[in-house]
Amino acid sequence: MYQETSSIKVNLVNNSYEVLVGSKVINSIGKKIEKLKIPKGGKVLVISNPDVAEPYSKSFIESIKGSGYDPKLLILEAGEDQKTQKSIALIHNAAYEHQLERSSLIIALGGGVIGDMAGFAAATWLRGIGFIQVPTTLLSMVDASVGGKTGVNHSRGKNLIGAFHQPKLVLIDLDTLKTLPDREFRSGMAEVIKYGVISDSDLFTKLEKASDLTSLKTIDKKLIKEIVIKSITTKAKIVEEDEKENGIRAILNYGHTFGHVVETLTGYKKWLHGEAVSIGMAAIGEIAFNLNFWSLEDLKRQNNLLKKAGLPIEWPDFQKNQVMRSLKGDKKVKDGNIRFVIPNEIGKVVISSDIEEDSIISFLNHKKATV
Ligand code: NAD
Ligand code: GLY
Repeated sequence: MYQETSSIKVNLVNNSYEVLVGSKVINSIGKKIEKLKIPKGGKVLVISNPDVAEPYSKSFIESIKGSGYDPKLLILEAGEDQKTQKSIALIHNAAYEHQLERSSLIIALGGGVIGDMAGFAAATWLRGIGFIQVPTTLLSMVDASVGGKTGVNHSRGKNLIGAFHQPKLVLIDLDTLKTLPDREFRSGMAEVIKYGVISDSDLFTKLEKASDLTSLKTIDKKLIKEIVIKSITTKAKIVEEDEKENGIRAILNYGHTFGHVVETLTGYKKWLHGEAVSIGMAAIGEIAFNLNFWSLEDLKRQNNLLKKAGLPIEWPDFQKNQVMRSLKGDKKVKDGNIRFVIPNEIGKVVISSDIEEDSIISFLNHKKATV
């Protein structure tokens, strides 16, 4: 359906790896492990959750066994509220029971929550073992599975506990999107639109011209593969330049500073990650317009595209002091200043710590989405 498999290389000083994007490739996992030269007989711990394990894990595990490895499947409950240290303890317990060694592998078979947790467990088990990402949501295909950020949430904030730990391989099977609920598909589309705003105006225009962005059933099938490849290529380029987020990589957090506030203040229950990012993009977009960073036309183009993808853009009715406290607790605070990624035009953003608190308060007082 999506023709041949494409390969995107993430070139890093250490630990370079391939991202493979194809159709019906999920059950080639055994062969892919062989290609990584993992010794035969090696232990493999596969982490998944019920919605994914039910349709995909049986043949996946068989493929690993068929290549001469010893797999064990651990199924964790789904949901952002499960992205906790408690779940990491469950993975570490399974790693102990299955006697994972330094040469063993952990595989994430699922969305970004599973990927972030499996990666963090791999980063910390025996001070770091190998792991493979097999992302099954649009969001994890275009963003979470690539770049090596792993971790869990703390009760006071999102992703506050974590490590950089690059996967050995990312294996993307676009056919797994067939079982993904439409709302989750749209949540992934928020991160795709993010790439358009931060650095790819061609991608942005392509999305504007597309007849539909709200569901895999209605989107052009050629476009979906193109979207995934373009997004990963952008992310790979940024990560290659700044693996540990000392500078430019922060632009990938566009919309996330306010997005994390939305997720944290609603206990990760009301909005999906991509929906919160969409609200966050509209919020910083509005502030950027108020401060003359970008034009009303660009703000409207962004918000219209988010709406076209069926995403929310209205700022919720939070108490201002809670918002300010949550913003200041975010990882992106440096020397007490909040660092924002601010749009200049479609395809271009800047990083700034100079946004006055008054501008944020003024936005929170009026909090209108301009379109
Ligand atoms: P998710 O992992 O919670 O998955 C969403 C839901 O879809 C879950 O219920 C899951 O069981 C289900 N699901 C997954 N694949 C499916 C499939 N093919 N068919 C049917 N159901 C399926 O959510 P997500 O949107 O994939 O990821 C969000 C997480 O990713 C957040 O925690 C976010 O912080 C993280 N993230 C990390 C990075 C990074 O660089 N590490 C980047 C972006 C987002
Ligand atoms: N999603 C942000 C990053 O990977 O840096």
